[in-house]
Amino acid sequence: MKNNSHSAAIAIALLFVGFTTSLSAQNYPFELPKLPYAYNALEPVVDAATMEIHYSKHHAAYVKNLNNAVKGTKQESYSLDELMLYAGELDEVIRNNAGGHYNHSMFWNILSLHNPFNPQTEVGKAVTGTFGSLDSLKKLLNKAGATRFGSGWAWLYVTTDKKLAVCSSPNQDNPIMDISPERGIPVLCIDVWEHAYYLKYQNKRGDYLSAILDAINWDAVNKNYTEALGSPLLKTIEKETWTELSTFHEVMAGTFHPSEDGDLKPIRERSGEFLAKAKALQSGKIPTSFNTPEIKKSIDDLVRGANALNQMVLKKADDKSLSKKLGELHDIFHTIQGLCRH
Ligand SMILES: [Fe+2]
Repeated sequence: MKNNSHSAAIAIALLFVGFTTSLSAQNYPFELPKLPYAYNALEPVVDAATMEIHYSKHHAAYVKNLNNAVKGTKQESYSLDELMLYAGELDEVIRNNAGGHYNHSMFWNILSLHNPFNPQTEVGKAVTGTFGSLDSLKKLLNKAGATRFGSGWAWLYVTTDKKLAVCSSPNQDNPIMDISPERGIPVLCIDVWEHAYYLKYQNKRGDYLSAILDAINWDAVNKNYTEALGSPLLKTIEKETWTELSTFHEVMAGTFHPSEDGDLKPIRERSGEFLAKAKALQSGKIPTSFNTPEIKKSIDDLVRGANALNQMVLKKADDKSLSKKLGELHDIFHTIQGLCRH
């Protein structure tokens, strides 16, 4: 489970780089953002009645339900980013409504009839470089939205490798969430819930998608893109998706924390596994942002120490010596992992 040290880690990271988009910085109680235009501003692509119901009823309900679900729980201290990053650990009501709030807030901001695609912008160059053309991207987004069974979203997002990619998600999930198979920071989203289009387009989701993909505020998408590239949230996701690190972390947490309470049984039983997982960390691919000489050295130190620890267990070393050695390895691990979530 997480604690406040984790919130502090993200807060410090955000402060350090000055990343203060209003959405990411939001905390409980969450508020319905002001719609950046009139209900009829996107006519004829989005009719005024749909816009009014979508914003003032659906989005407002996500915010209200999110606040009700979070109230009185320890999630009151979570930012909106954290509610999504650790959605898999949380109540489903919180996950759905936090996603609903985040997704719709982004959606309103990336729609416009007056901010067309510009191939000279940062995102314009990335779209052309990645997909070949805007039309190719539109086809991918259209397909992602059209083939999403039931309710969900189509996404253009920045991957942990800082590339653009397209995916879709069910319900109110999004690529920030730990439960998402595709991880990264969204820069453009299309709501494909029926409530987004049924009044005007009825069951013709493809027609709605074609129309709305011509009503994108590419200035806003460019801003989202440039912010995502430098976002500490992206680095957090990169770390969270470093499989060998999380696998090692599980063994470290399962052995070190009992040892703090004087219980050395877990490390005596798992020292071989501890060493194997450290070696897997050493031989696996280190994510780009973490591939530094300092971190490589820490991993090498970890493997050497894990080997020594395993030998001590095999030679039936006393509790005090084992505890000391494990503590040293925990310190080394923290130079890689950052503040511990446990
Ligand atoms: Fe919606």
